[in-house]
Amino acid sequence: MTEDVPRWWQSGLIYQIYPRSFQDSDGNGIGDLNGIRRRLDYLETLGVDAIWMSPMFVSPMKDFGYDVADYCAIDPRFGTMEDFDALLAEARARGLRIILDLVPNHTSDQHAWFKEARSSRTSPKRDWYLWSDPAPNGGRPNNWLSEFGGPAWTFDAATDQYYYHAFLPEQPDLNWRNPEVRAAIYDVMRFWLDKGVGGFRVDVLWHLLKDDARRDNPENPGWHEGMSPTHRLLPIYTTDLPDMQSIVREMRSVVDEYDERVLIGELYLPIERLVRYYGEELDGAHLPFNFALIEAPWHARELDRLIRDYEAAVPHGGWPNWVLGNHDKPRISGRVGPAQARVAAMLLLTLRGTPTLYYGDEIGMPQAQLSGTETRDPVERNVPGFGLGRDGCRTPMQWDDTPNAGFTTGLPWLPLATDDPAVTVAAEDADPDSMLSLHRRLITHRRQHPALSVGSFHPLAAEGDVLLFQREHGSERFLVALNLGPAATEVALEASARATVAVATTTGREGEAITGTFTLGSDEGLLLKLD
Ligand code: NOJ
Repeated sequence: MTEDVPRWWQSGLIYQIYPRSFQDSDGNGIGDLNGIRRRLDYLETLGVDAIWMSPMFVSPMKDFGYDVADYCAIDPRFGTMEDFDALLAEARARGLRIILDLVPNHTSDQHAWFKEARSSRTSPKRDWYLWSDPAPNGGRPNNWLSEFGGPAWTFDAATDQYYYHAFLPEQPDLNWRNPEVRAAIYDVMRFWLDKGVGGFRVDVLWHLLKDDARRDNPENPGWHEGMSPTHRLLPIYTTDLPDMQSIVREMRSVVDEYDERVLIGELYLPIERLVRYYGEELDGAHLPFNFALIEAPWHARELDRLIRDYEAAVPHGGWPNWVLGNHDKPRISGRVGPAQARVAAMLLLTLRGTPTLYYGDEIGMPQAQLSGTETRDPVERNVPGFGLGRDGCRTPMQWDDTPNAGFTTGLPWLPLATDDPAVTVAAEDADPDSMLSLHRRLITHRRQHPALSVGSFHPLAAEGDVLLFQREHGSERFLVALNLGPAATEVALEASARATVAVATTTGREGEAITGTFTLGSDEGLLLKLD
C-alpha cells in the first residue's frame, strides 16, 4: 500500500463490462448503457467496487469501439449522454466507480482530426498523425507490421504519402510527439474526469511512441511457420520506447488534478519492463495491468514462480494487480476447463493486489466456438486460423432462461456461448454450489477480511500440482491451498496450527476444522482461516 489507508482501487475489485454484450435494453441486439444501469443491482450485490467499460464513444465500429470518431460523445448504439450521466449518477449513488476506456494511440479514420489531417499535406492537423513519403522504390516507408495483419502503412493517394496504423487501416495512429495531440487527449480526459468518472484504462499504452527515425523492426528469431505472421518481427521500434515514461507521467499528472482517480495501463510486456510503468517516483500508472495469469501455462510451479517474480518486481510502494480474462483473450474456463476455472477464481480473489474480473467469468461462461460465418472480429477476419479471434470471449452475458438468456429481445450481435440454462445468473443464484455463489463467497470474504485484500503475501510452496500461499493482516492469517491437478494430495499445516475451511471450490467442506494433515481433493481450492 502506498499509504496506511488503502485507496478504493487497492482494496477494491474491478469488473470489466464489454458494453456490446452485457445487456441490451432496446432490442437492437447490442448491449447499451441503459442495459448496464438495469443491472447495477446485480453488480452491487456481487460486491464489485468499480466497473471498467470498454469504449462506448461514437465509432464506426470497425474494431467495435476501439476506433473512436468522437471521444466526447456516446455512440447512439449505446445510448445518449443523458443515459451515460444517469448511469454514472446511479452507480455513484451505490458507491460504484466507473472507469472508462481511453483509446489515445489511434482514432478512427472518420474522426474529424484525421479527416482534416488527410485533406492536405499543409493541413494544420497533418502532423497529428504519422505520415511518411514512399520509400525510394515507391514502396512502403519501412517493414512495420500491423497487429491486425498486413503492413502497418496505408497509402493515401490524394496526398501521395503513407500513414501508420498499428491496428486496422481505419485506426490511424496519433503522433504522440506532437504536444497539440497530447493536449487534446488530456482535454478529453478532463472532460470525463469533470463528469466524475473514476479514472481510465488506457488502451495499448506501450504503443504510443514510435521510432522517429522509422527504423525497420528486426526479424523475430523465435518465429517459425505456423506462428501468426504478425509476430514475424520484434516490435522494438514501434512499442515500449524509452521515452514512454515521460508521457505516462504527463497522463498521470492529469489524473492527479482530481481526487481519488485511477490510471490503469494496458501493457503486454514482460514483468521487468511492465513494472517500469509505475514510474520511477511512482508517478506513472497506478496499475500497469498484469496479464501474467492470462499468459502463463496452468501449472503450480509456473504460477508460483510468476507470482514470486511479480511480487519481487513491483516497486516499493507500488500496488500489484491481477487479471484472468478480458475481451481479447480466450475465457479462463476455455483455457483451463470448468473445474480449474473455480480454482483460478480463488487464486484471482486471494492474491495480493487489485483483481479485475471479466464479465461472465463469474458464472463460468464458456469460450464460445463460433462458425466461420459468425465471425465479427476483424482480427479473425484478417488473420484467420491462428486462434487470435476474439468473438469467442465476447458473447452475450447469460442472465436467465428467457429467449437469448435475457440479453436481448432482438437478434444478438453474437450468438450465445451456450444455451444451457444452468449457466445463467438466475440459475446460479439459486444454487449454492454454482460458480456465481463461489464468487460471491470469495468476494464477501475479501471484503470482510483486509488480510485477503490489502494483507501481506507469503508464498509457501509449489509441490507437484499444489500451490500454497498465506495472506496476513494484523492478527488475521489465511492459507490458500490450490490443487491444480486431478489427483487428491495430502497437505500438512504448520506444526500445531489449526484452521477452518472458510471457502472451498468444491462442495461440503466449508466450516470443516483442520489440524495436522489434510487432503486437497482433485481440482480443489481451499481458503483456510488459521486460528
Ligand atoms: C487493445 C484492445 O483491448 C483491443 O480490443 C483493441 O482491438 C486494440 N487495443 C486496438 O485498440
